[in-house]
Amino acid sequence: MNRDAMQQAWRLLEASVVTYRGTPVGTVAARDAETEALNYDQVFTRDFAISAFAFLLDDRPEIVRHFLATAVKLQSHERQLDCFKPGEGLIPASFKVTDDGAGERLIADFGEHAIARVAPVDSGFWWLLTLQAYVRATGDRAFLIDASVQQAIRLVLDLSMTNRFDMFPTMLVPDGAFMIDRRMGVYGYPIDIQAQFFAALCAAAELLDATDPANAPYRTALDERLPHLAYHVRTYYWLDLPRLNQIYRYGVEEYGPASVNKFNVYPDSIPDWLMDWLPETGGYLVGNVGPGRLDYRWFGQGNLLACAAGLATEAQSDAVMQLLSQRYDDLVGKVPLKLCFPALEGQDWRILTGCDPKNRPWSYHNGGNWPVLLWLLTLVSQQTGADELAERALHDAERRLVRDDWPEYYDGRHGRLVGQQARRRQTWSAAGYLVACQLLERPERAALLRMGRPVEGASCAAVTAGA
Ligand code: GLC
Repeated sequence: MNRDAMQQAWRLLEASVVTYRGTPVGTVAARDAETEALNYDQVFTRDFAISAFAFLLDDRPEIVRHFLATAVKLQSHERQLDCFKPGEGLIPASFKVTDDGAGERLIADFGEHAIARVAPVDSGFWWLLTLQAYVRATGDRAFLIDASVQQAIRLVLDLSMTNRFDMFPTMLVPDGAFMIDRRMGVYGYPIDIQAQFFAALCAAAELLDATDPANAPYRTALDERLPHLAYHVRTYYWLDLPRLNQIYRYGVEEYGPASVNKFNVYPDSIPDWLMDWLPETGGYLVGNVGPGRLDYRWFGQGNLLACAAGLATEAQSDAVMQLLSQRYDDLVGKVPLKLCFPALEGQDWRILTGCDPKNRPWSYHNGGNWPVLLWLLTLVSQQTGADELAERALHDAERRLVRDDWPEYYDGRHGRLVGQQARRRQTWSAAGYLVACQLLERPERAALLRMGRPVEGASCAAVTAGA
């Protein structure tokens, strides 16, 4: 750990703080003087979660409480029948403070002002995870059991747990509705969201006040859902060499509960790159599972969140860490961590991204490296006893982050180039680095960020009994 780098990261984080009527309420996404701000001057819910962890680990919970309360105020309370308004319970993707002369006002963005108008599926989940860490750090039960906070939790659950056109315990989401907020072929059941969904539901189960009768049906629903979700992801998303071999020899067009190939996946859809790339030992959770579809791409955030929250079993978490160390250059690279591997190229890129130049192969979401994920890599490394991996990654990253002024992401197969359109002074790059340093310095503090709870994966009725 490099003291100068840490000091620089703290300065950056502190300078990014946004106040509302004199009170700190969040951090802007980036403070790059060279590039147009676009919406990077807003407080993003997902970006702030990482700042919140850094502040909490540093015993500075005030800003986090103000952020949490602000998000509760901004949460959508519109009835659902108007398709142009955000659904009830939605937490904004971002907000900003404006002043047109009549005093400061908060303006929330639920996706209406973002590219392609995608509503954020992950904001409510990040809010819950931030709340969980805040309560752990402070023991502030008065804030937690305030009626508005308890209701906000229930609204997030209403929005995300209610059955819609769906038969799985996982959650159906559109493309671009989370950290990967542009079209990337991640519609359906992306692992990034399933892992976060699991972690957030576990958080909700811990945070709902057990003495409030209004919470009883929610607590029951959570107890029922979590084992199904765990079983589904552990079973159908898991990929290692024996499993790949099973898929390679799958029978197809099987009907009924006894079918082995539940999603009717055709072996011909196994991509060429995978056969030789997958090591003898080690494994990971694939990117997406749906009808006739396994997306074999590796997604860093989903896999690490699944390990951190105990959605992946202990053996699976160990195997993920083995994969990371055996394919270090591909998945960790010069600056950690690959968001998605491998990149979509050629016709796949044209069709699945809609020829998006920002997501050219090995850039941005499409195979770029994101330093923000350092915190998660460190957390999981510590949990699985693979500390050296995190230390190596951090050591490789910090020199570059300082030299390059804290870029948002890096490009190239091994993440050697500053991202083509990356912002500099990106707040969550500094915050992700700081959380990693704080965890390495004081490993006992990891308890504050502990996610999930022990869940035995029950067999999934919808799938095992399905036709
Ligand atoms: C980009 C990222 C998104 C992030 C935002 C602000 O749009 O894709 O995940 O929240 O920048 O940093």
